[in-house]
Amino acid sequence: MSSWKIPDDKIEDAKLLFKNIKSRRAVRDVKKDPVPDEYIHKVLEAASHAPSPENYEPWRFIIVRDKKKLKIMGEHAIKGCVTMFGTMLPRTEINHRFGYMPSRAVAVSVNLMASGWRMCYIRDAPVQIVVAVDSKRAMAKDISPITVISGAHLNHLPFVCSGLALMNASLMASALGLGSCIHNFEFQDPTDEREIAEMLNIPQPHWKISATLSLGIPIRERTLGPPRTKVEKLAFEDEWGKWYKPKNKLDW
Ligand SMILES: Cc1cc2nc3c(=O)[nH]c(=O)nc-3n(C[C@H](O)[C@H](O)[C@H](O)COP(=O)(O)O)c2cc1C
Repeated sequence: MSSWKIPDDKIEDAKLLFKNIKSRRAVRDVKKDPVPDEYIHKVLEAASHAPSPENYEPWRFIIVRDKKKLKIMGEHAIKGCVTMFGTMLPRTEINHRFGYMPSRAVAVSVNLMASGWRMCYIRDAPVQIVVAVDSKRAMAKDISPITVISGAHLNHLPFVCSGLALMNASLMASALGLGSCIHNFEFQDPTDEREIAEMLNIPQPHWKISATLSLGIPIRERTLGPPRTKVEKLAFEDEWGKWYKPKNKLDW
């Protein structure tokens, strides 16, 4: 058995990291006030430090602050939300999603979703950072041998990378005290995505929008969030179906 122990200072760093991971929330209600550029830059710097295969950095970030463009994105998102929650899902299911909230708040949230108003923040937040990825390249070179040989099964890699970049960005936003929310309701159908890509001059067809990050100064602190499933209900040992049972756990 290994006697290796994590040094105390590392444990303190890890605790802080975990605290920041757990306290990050999707914060949609933000003020209209602009976000100073130095904070936007730091958020994007964090995003740019995400890993990618051969460090090929498949992402580009479009900082959208133009009111007309924000309005169009917001309208697409409201439409997408109504399509999804207003007609497709029974309200009981939406209720179930908000089960962690006090019942009064559930009723409000259900209505906000069903009416699409929950997505107004996409129009009203001062900044939206649209992330586009190069969907044609899976590696660093324009025509990488890996792309040629392995083909389609690597198509998801740029989107994996974009998720990592978005995670870094939202953690940095949260650490700075900014509100941020990753979203994609404005791209519910391919026509919406095409229209927004054209509006933002994103080269088509191979640059794909993966998601957007809203940024703003929070109106209020948000601490309550949806609970997470325990690791023991998510992880298997060596094969699917054989639940992972940790022998020890850290008590933080
Ligand atoms: C890929 C992705 C897409 C999402 N799309 C939307 C969206 O379109 N609109 C929205 O309001 N929130 C969206 N969210 C935010 C999630 O609803 C939110 O992160 C989730 O409920 C967990 O809450 P928390 O972030 O506060 O922990 C998205 C999150 C991710 C990671």
